[in-house]
Amino acid sequence: MMQEVAAAAPDPLAAIKNPDLALVQDSPSAEHLGGLVEKIFFRTGGQTSAAVHTDGLFLLILWFSVFFFILLMGLMVYWVIKYRRRPGVPAEPSASHNGPLEILWTVVPSSAMILMFVFGFEGYMQRVVAPADAIQLDVTGFKWDWKIRYPGGEQTTYRTSLGTKVDGVKIFVIPEDTPIKLVMTSNDVIHSFWVPDFRTKMDLYPNRYSTYTFRTEKLAPGELYRDHWIFCAEYCGDSHSEMYGVFRVVPRSVYDDVLADWNAGSMTPVQMGEMLFRSNCISCHSTDGSPNLGPTWKNLYGYERPLSGGKTVLADENYILESIWFPTKQISAGYEGQAMTNFSGILDQDQITAIIAYMKTLSDKGGPLEGDSPDAQGDAGTNEETTQDSTGG
Ligand code: CUA
Repeated sequence: MMQEVAAAAPDPLAAIKNPDLALVQDSPSAEHLGGLVEKIFFRTGGQTSAAVHTDGLFLLILWFSVFFFILLMGLMVYWVIKYRRRPGVPAEPSASHNGPLEILWTVVPSSAMILMFVFGFEGYMQRVVAPADAIQLDVTGFKWDWKIRYPGGEQTTYRTSLGTKVDGVKIFVIPEDTPIKLVMTSNDVIHSFWVPDFRTKMDLYPNRYSTYTFRTEKLAPGELYRDHWIFCAEYCGDSHSEMYGVFRVVPRSVYDDVLADWNAGSMTPVQMGEMLFRSNCISCHSTDGSPNLGPTWKNLYGYERPLSGGKTVLADENYILESIWFPTKQISAGYEGQAMTNFSGILDQDQITAIIAYMKTLSDKGGPLEGDSPDAQGDAGTNEETTQDSTGG
């Protein structure tokens, strides 16, 4: 790999397009795992800080269970033999209770369970709460592959020649040492996004968004890229086992070059969302705070919204999705008399994802603007993959 760089190939991204996988199975990366038994269990350590946390928690629970299994089974066998029934020896009467002993065997296991819960909850929160500067990737699972749309609307054109897929395995490039937020949904059935190196499986559902966040690792000096398998961990039909891809972690500057390489004038989600707004929503909703038949979209996303009936709801992805498909389910306070068109069957989930991306740009709680890199400003046009994938409505 290093020689290719030194030879100054005409295509600077040749090494990244290279179908060779640099999988972490090949690298000695289990330092944090300690002893031999752990290394046999894991082969290689978790590759993100959250994954290292998971390894530790798993081993804590494992050794806790092993310790008490041996202790309890040992005592049981010892007492079964010691107090076995013998001819002519009457059974000893049992004590009715023993206060200190009962407190001990309640407090010790309960404390251990609480500790496991706290560590487990911490690990879960690390995975679902994204830092504000995270790069958002829109992930769609479908029978039987993954689609990832980048902030500028880019989609991968790199594939490995490995595997049994006719067209190879998709490579999704992500920058090193960067928080990544995946906003995931499915076009058909339930899938589960599984990156073994990150120790995480997260389900994708049709008609709903789920999120998963992680921070990519730092590459070693001189390392061009590092790969992590992506699998589907929810049995979803005939070719479930072929539903795989690769995350390729690369230096930040290479990531920017790759996205520029992938951007074939594709429309960003924000641009697409604004176009959909103009053709479907503009007659009832404003974007600047001015009143109209429906609530304004200015500062809608990310805010608590008062509903008719006195409740409030956080205007997140799922709230917006539901409001577009089933507008009568949760009516905003003050808009009881208005009947919004039901857009289920009119706007599909890809289009709603784009509308949400546009709504985020109208809210000061929308996070970093998507698609605001200079490379992302292209003409309206669809790239090859967008037209190939059919989306459920
Ligand atoms: Cu998708 Cu299994």
